Amino acid sequence: MSFNFESTLETPITIDGVEFKNRLLNASGCVCTSGEDLNMLNLSSSAGIVTKSCTLKYREGNNMPRYYDTDALSINSTGLANMGYEFYRDWSVNKKKPYILSVAGVENGENLEILRNLQNSTTVDLIELNLSCPNIIGKPQIAYDFDATDELLRKVFEFNNLKLGVKLPPYFDTMHFNQMADILNKYKLSFVTSINSLGNGLVYDSFNTVIAPNEGLGGIGGSVIKPFGLSNVYRFSKLLKIPIFGCGGIKNKNDALEYIKAGASMVEIGTQLVKDGTSIFDTIIN
Ligand code: DHB
Repeated sequence: MSFNFESTLETPITIDGVEFKNRLLNASGCVCTSGEDLNMLNLSSSAGIVTKSCTLKYREGNNMPRYYDTDALSINSTGLANMGYEFYRDWSVNKKKPYILSVAGVENGENLEILRNLQNSTTVDLIELNLSCPNIIGKPQIAYDFDATDELLRKVFEFNNLKLGVKLPPYFDTMHFNQMADILNKYKLSFVTSINSLGNGLVYDSFNTVIAPNEGLGGIGGSVIKPFGLSNVYRFSKLLKIPIFGCGGIKNKNDALEYIKAGASMVEIGTQLVKDGTSIFDTIIN
């Protein structure tokens, strides 16, 4: 089959043995927290389902309002509101398409404990280990600490028989792309997702913060972050030998194809999925 760039988004792809019927996914955190959300994704035209990043136990998350958007951006400080990993593991029996469980342990050892407990699931296809949640007050984004990232991955791959990718925050310095790629290249990862939101932005409306938690600071998504998503995908696609899931500010087919051009194999839709609902996948493909 000759390669037709324009039709890439509809072209099937196999990632570490998992078959996707097209290139579109939801971004973790967007329409993927409740069973109702997961049902909607299951019935949509997305190629797979990515769950809300989960912890060992149910979390209520931060105070409302914790999400806000405009045409140009979104800001959130959800605070890892989720049902606990067992819910997402057990829900996977309902999946009609590849199921990617996002894990974001907060406490010491929590990621390892969750990953150990997922080893025997036959219905979770891939894990997206989230190293980049910006909204837990007092907890760093793991992937901005290179030694901590290396140490965590070393421990994970001591026992891991899961197909596992990592979700990265945006980097802004050439050295950082190289340093992170050197670490990731040491492990048998299935994919890398790039980028998470730009952490700790501040948005005012009429001189008031638009979200309540953390004095109004939260992760920025939407169109304004697309240049950073594209540059991160571009750099990592050159430095790594595994598929890149591109994310950040994709609103339409053109944006999605820009990510493919930059080197992404799959694309994840976040802010625009929250705005439009799951019909966004049809809009982008058609
Ligand atoms: C949350 C936000 C993120 O960007 C993330 O990667 C994980 C969790 C949140 O606030 O819930």
